[in-house]
Amino acid sequence: MGFIRPFALLGTLAGLALGQDCPILGPTYPEVLNPSSSTVFAAAKASFDDEITKALASGQLDNGTAFSIQVFSRNSDKLLFERHHGSSVGPDTLYRIGSISKVMTVYTTLAELGDKYWTEPVTKYVPELARLKVRDPVYDTDWSEVTLGALASYLSGIARDYALGDIAPYLPPGIPGIPALNATEQIQCGTSGLRACTRAESLTKIAHTYPISPTHHTPAYSNMAFQLLAYAVEQITHKKFPTLVNTRLLTPLNLTHTFLTKPSNPSNALVLDGWDLDFGEESPAGGYYSTPADLTVLARSILRSTLLPPALTRSWLQPLSHTANMALSLGRPWEIPRLTLTPGAAPVDVYTKQGAVGAYLALLALSPAQGVGYTMLTAGGKSPATYAWLQEKVDAIFLGAAEAAAREEAGRRFAGNYTVEAGAEGTAAAVEVPILRKTFMRSDGKGKCKL
Ligand SMILES: *[C@@H]1O[C@H](CO)[C@@H](O)[C@H](O)[C@H]1NC(C)=O
Ligand SMILES: *[C@@H]1O[C@H](CO)[C@@H](O)[C@H](O)[C@H]1NC(C)=O
Ligand SMILES: *[C@@H]1O[C@H](CO)[C@@H](O)[C@H](O)[C@H]1NC(C)=O
Ligand SMILES: *[C@@H]1O[C@H](CO)[C@@H](O)[C@H](O)[C@H]1NC(C)=O
Repeated sequence: MGFIRPFALLGTLAGLALGQDCPILGPTYPEVLNPSSSTVFAAAKASFDDEITKALASGQLDNGTAFSIQVFSRNSDKLLFERHHGSSVGPDTLYRIGSISKVMTVYTTLAELGDKYWTEPVTKYVPELARLKVRDPVYDTDWSEVTLGALASYLSGIARDYALGDIAPYLPPGIPGIPALNATEQIQCGTSGLRACTRAESLTKIAHTYPISPTHHTPAYSNMAFQLLAYAVEQITHKKFPTLVNTRLLTPLNLTHTFLTKPSNPSNALVLDGWDLDFGEESPAGGYYSTPADLTVLARSILRSTLLPPALTRSWLQPLSHTANMALSLGRPWEIPRLTLTPGAAPVDVYTKQGAVGAYLALLALSPAQGVGYTMLTAGGKSPATYAWLQEKVDAIFLGAAEAAAREEAGRRFAGNYTVEAGAEGTAAAVEVPILRKTFMRSDGKGKCKL
């Protein structure tokens, strides 16, 4: 029998005022501390494994597209689930991770500098931008308004790319309505099939990009933002950015299979379209290579605050803007789907970053409120379909299981008969929402009131 003080009424006033339940955003239940012994997770694992096997057999999942998926908990070194598909694909297979590199860039920055530079303008640290004049705000970015924090969070208003994805090198000449470009107008570097741009070339091109919107007006994706962020960090620290990634992330986490540039002749590589694309100076936006095992260690270290103080992790795992999709917010550089796992409960916000390059499509996902996450790497002709299928299932099955397992554990720990000091007594049972509900109350041992 436990004891509670009769203060619960205060907590319901906000809900009454709004005429609706208003659960607190965040964990609905305390986290599952020993996931390996949970029967709910064991059932989820068996069911997901079975669904994958069936989908591969039926052709719903393309047999020719390789994938790796690992599901983990903050509270265990043992994976909750893993599955690999493809010839000799396993936890140490090397994939391209594309824009998940952006998470590594921000993580490195936070580990080296903390978050105290986020409000500083980029012009303070990238002199080439400080020299640019704003003649017309429609055509010229006001770089003095672009902060390092805005660069990291899609809120800078700057263009997406200065060369990456430029189709001019591939356009056949003579397309009606499209004037031919002369030699000086053609880009020479910075996209697929061309060499990487130097810093000087990049900044000359960046100076010629147009703003997408004013700063902090609306989120818009930008790759070049992360190249500029890395330049600023180099100027602040007087260290090369790849050196910082090594000393701040790769060495302390022992990520021996993660590479910032294309590794030479790795035996474990899954080499497909996009493998060779050299991001050069733009690597902090999308150039890195990693394995399922390394990516899981990196992701779990975020949930565990291994490299950052817990307060910094908490402020990092927060949204900074909404999008026009009610169920998607954004952070640095998080893409945050908001999932409804339990009707009536607060949404579960999943801090994710997607990465796409060539035939590779990857995802890193953290559910801080549940203490679980997953990493997913796909490669092959049908990677978008494989990725979409796996993501939908893993969210429904494993994040759903995390919720169910936590509810079950909370029931075991907290449901029971409680007596308040005034002498009233009551019973609490674990139900879906909120975590505990009083099922009856009795005052001074007299008169039982069923609730
Ligand atoms: C599926 O792919 C594997 C290699 O990953 C191959 O051994 C197998 O024959 C393929 N099955 C079908 C039905 O194509
Ligand atoms: C190429 O085009 C640009 C802009 O249209 C023009 O300024 C330049 O003179 C042209 N160069 C040559 C070599 O024709
Ligand atoms: C680092 O990882 C490698 C293999 O990936 C392993 O052989 C080595 O023991 C690890 N070192 C530490 C200190 O954990
Ligand atoms: C709570 O008390 C009731 C009787 O008052 C009893 O039937 C029930 O088993 C108790 N529940 C627990 C969890 O102790």
